[in-house]
Amino acid sequence: MAFAYSEKVMDHFTNPRNVGEIENCSGCGTVGNAQCGDIMRVYLDIDEDSRIRDVKFKTFGCGAAIATSSMATELVKGKTIQEALEVTNKAVMEALDGLPPVKVHCSLLAEEAIHAALWDYAERKGIVIEGLEKPKTDIHEHESEHERELELA
Ligand code: FES
Repeated sequence: MAFAYSEKVMDHFTNPRNVGEIENCSGCGTVGNAQCGDIMRVYLDIDEDSRIRDVKFKTFGCGAAIATSSMATELVKGKTIQEALEVTNKAVMEALDGLPPVKVHCSLLAEEAIHAALWDYAERKGIVIEGLEKPKTDIHEHESEHERELELA
């Protein structure tokens, strides 16, 4: 390997947290990474106080994508929607003690999937979440096509 992962990245890659699905989720989002074709789906369970009660993910992707998905879900769990919006890919990378430069793009998948899930939640509720932009890579409309490509991390 031409680069080294931090211990935290290896920990979240080999023992990812929050893997799975949430039946009857409040919102879910699926995004793809244009650079490598990897896919991530996030499921959110949001309570009446706009707090993320639970979050699960599935990622078909590289080790960095799995580790950042795992850490990102840990960071948004229990947070309000507005607090979750502040969990950027940079914050996720910092929490993992960094990523090799060639793997920085992988961390975008988790941030975008969470935003896509929040967007889905807002659409279902008919509300506008301040500061949330429609995810560019949301492939929600084509879910059935990609369903078979999703694998457990
Ligand atoms: Fe595809 Fe990392 S190489 S997300």
